[in-house]
Amino acid sequence: MTELKIPNHIAIILDGNGRWAKKQNRPRTFGHKEGAENVIRIARSAKKFGVKTLTLYAFSTENWKRPASEVGFLMDLLIKFVNSKIDELMEEDCKLNFLGDITKLPKKTKEACEFALDKTKDNKSLVINIALNYGGRDELVHSFKEIMKKGYGSDEITEELISDNLYTSGQADPDLLIRPGGELRLSNFLVYQLAYTELYFTEVLWPDFTEDDLREAIVAFTKRDRRYGGL
Ligand code: IPE
Ligand code: IPE
Ligand code: MG
Repeated sequence: MTELKIPNHIAIILDGNGRWAKKQNRPRTFGHKEGAENVIRIARSAKKFGVKTLTLYAFSTENWKRPASEVGFLMDLLIKFVNSKIDELMEEDCKLNFLGDITKLPKKTKEACEFALDKTKDNKSLVINIALNYGGRDELVHSFKEIMKKGYGSDEITEELISDNLYTSGQADPDLLIRPGGELRLSNFLVYQLAYTELYFTEVLWPDFTEDDLREAIVAFTKRDRRYGGL
C-alpha cells in the first residue's frame, strides 16, 4: 500500500449522538455522553497518526433551538468533560482552543473553557479547537466587525485580513473535513476555511467512530488529487 498522506489539520462535525442513543432505546443525552468520551479516543488516535490540529464541531449557533433541557445538558457536559479529561489532555500534551463566542455561554461553562484554555496553553503535540456556540456566518460577521474596529479602509480588505480576524486566526485551513452521521451538508461549519478542504462523509454515527474509521478517512484523503484550480 502507498504511504498514508497525513493531513496536518482535520475538522470533524460531531454528528449522530442522538440517533446512536435512540437505536438503543436510550435518551439522546446518553449519546452526547458517549460522544464526549469519543473525543478523547479520537484525539489520541489523531495524535498517533501525526495530525497537528483537530477542529471539532460540538455546538452550533443554531443548536440553541433545541429543547432547553438538551441545551442545558450539553452545557453541563462540557464542564464535566473539561474537569474529567484535563489530566489526560495534559498527559497527551494537547492544547485546547475554542472557536465561537464563548462569552454567550452559561457562566460556569465559560469558566470551564477559560480554565482549560489557560491550563493547556503551553502544550504542543496536538491543537484541539472545539467549536462551541460556533457558526460560520457568525464568524464572518465577527471578522468584519473586528476589521472595522481596527479602522481598515475598503481598499485594504484582503482574503488574508478576513482570515486573520476569524476565530481560527493564525491557523492553517483544514486539509480534511469528516462528517460522521450520514448527513451531506456543512451545517454552517467553517464556511470560509473549507474552500479547498477535501470532504469525507460517512454513515457511521459519531459515538461509533473509531481509529479505524479515522484511518479510512485518511486513506481516502491520500488518494485525492488537490489541484487548487491548477492542473
Ligand atoms: C451531534 O449529535 C451533537 C450536537 C449537535 C450537539 P446530534 O445531537 O445532532 O445527533 P443526531 O444528529 O440528532 O443523531
Ligand atoms: C451540526 O449538527 C452541528 C454539530 C455537530 C455541532 P446538527 O445535528 O446540528 O446539524 P443539522 O441540524 O442536521 O444540519
Ligand atoms: Mg445532528
